[in-house]
Amino acid sequence: MSASPDWTIPQAWESYSGEDHATWDRLFARQSALLPGRVVPEFLAGLDILRMDRPGIPRFDDLNERLHRATGCQVVAVPGLVPDDVFFAHLAQRRFVAGRFIRSPGQDDYLEEPDVFHDVFGHVPLLANPVFADYMQAYGEGGLRSAHLGALDHLARLYWYTVEFGLIRGPRGLRIYGAGIVSSRAETRFALESPSPNRVAFDLLRTLRTRYRIDDFQQTYFVIDSFEDLLRQTQQTDFGPLYAMVQDLPAIAPDALLAADTVLSRGDQSHPAGR
Ligand code: PHE
Ligand code: FE
Repeated sequence: MSASPDWTIPQAWESYSGEDHATWDRLFARQSALLPGRVVPEFLAGLDILRMDRPGIPRFDDLNERLHRATGCQVVAVPGLVPDDVFFAHLAQRRFVAGRFIRSPGQDDYLEEPDVFHDVFGHVPLLANPVFADYMQAYGEGGLRSAHLGALDHLARLYWYTVEFGLIRGPRGLRIYGAGIVSSRAETRFALESPSPNRVAFDLLRTLRTRYRIDDFQQTYFVIDSFEDLLRQTQQTDFGPLYAMVQDLPAIAPDALLAADTVLSRGDQSHPAGR
């Protein structure tokens, strides 16, 4: 497919079928029933600000009107995975790239490649939050820099363990905020309620060093105190010296605990993850 230089394509909302919209509605109903009390309140506020509860796959143009008013962010459609520098450059301009296709019926619970439900339901509500929007932009700028420093694989772990699979400790207990969790029925429960995974207080260098699995639930979740704290820590730290350190240190296995970790709950290996 030929794309424009920035890889964006029209969403072509008119070409979704009735079945496509029904898939969105089914997934939306399922997650919105499950999330209250489990997701960070800012996520639910985002659904509200963006009026995402209206039936059918959202029109990006409608979302963007509200999203832009809230934080200056935009969501743009792309044909699939885009090169890292393209992804980062969009983020640095407060644009989030999203797949336009939706999974087929029968794939409600497992997906190889992110679709519009993961990308839009999972990621976009928090873009309506000013602090989280700033974090995403800063991450994009940091991504462009990490590519120059040859440290992309390390920075990618920060995205994985925050934007995709992050937990947060709120005043009323542990909540999910990562899009990979929020858009998955099974991992929503697993991340919070299963005795199987480790839950460890977020530590920037530790995160950059920790490998991750893409084929199963996480064996370790990292828990931030607040979006403000995450933004402050990442924005005020020069990652250059951290990347140099990470290159000299051994990588940490996805299920490993270190003596220096603040362990909130230790994974119980007699309850293996398993999808
Ligand atoms: N401060 C980081 C750097 O020096 C950039 C960054 C900000 C990276 C936020 C990730 C998240 O590269
Ligand atoms: Fe994602």
